Amino acid sequence: MRIDKFLSENGIASRKEAGRAARAGQIIVNGKVEKDTAKHISPETDEIYYMGQLITHTPFLYIMLNKPEGYVSATEDGHFPVVVELLDTALQSRHLFPCGRLDKDTTGLMLLTNDGQLSHLLLSPRRHVEKRYRFTCAEPLRADAEQIFSEGLTLKDGDVLLPSTLYPTPDRMGGEICLKEGKYHQIKRMLGAIGNRIVTLERISFGPLSADPALGRGQWRYLTDEEVSALRQAVDA
Ligand code: URA
Repeated sequence: MRIDKFLSENGIASRKEAGRAARAGQIIVNGKVEKDTAKHISPETDEIYYMGQLITHTPFLYIMLNKPEGYVSATEDGHFPVVVELLDTALQSRHLFPCGRLDKDTTGLMLLTNDGQLSHLLLSPRRHVEKRYRFTCAEPLRADAEQIFSEGLTLKDGDVLLPSTLYPTPDRMGGEICLKEGKYHQIKRMLGAIGNRIVTLERISFGPLSADPALGRGQWRYLTDEEVSALRQAVDA
């Protein structure tokens, strides 16, 4: 692995910062000053000092979870089980947190990570990272629902929503909806605003990340390198 990749993956320095430190003679590999951050090292066996500090290999983790109903999107809660409890106990000490929130009764795709910077970028309202949900509702969707959502709705409490896209099922008892933001209870409030009510809600994608159909409710897996790169690209990180 390249030295600069090793340092950024472990949350120590960006590639630029690593380059600067290397030129200043502040990167030592196995006792020797290394000025070229493109050089490859072996993270498990080489000894790397950055600015005088020994760096141990604890890279960021990126996990896709299929959230079941009844779990709170948090690291702890006084009353209900939380999504991080669904991970192996060995991972409990890795400071993983959910990237964004789903309501307790919402299911589907959740990203869990300990990469605060990437999470912050993915959730930034300015980035407009798209989230797609599948839902069912209590009443047939009114005929002009697509138009109302596409124009950007203002809710009763004055909250102004960005335009969103609705893809109803043929019977209009549900469908899919794409949001470019993630406000509190957003879809439930949107359906309420058009005289309807959400019955079930499931997230099926988050930016370039699609829910893995092989994961049952409560199951999780690590993201592939390609999926992590796609997330980074989506926010120019
Ligand atoms: N909108 C909601 O109302 N709830 C969610 O969990 C996600 C989006």
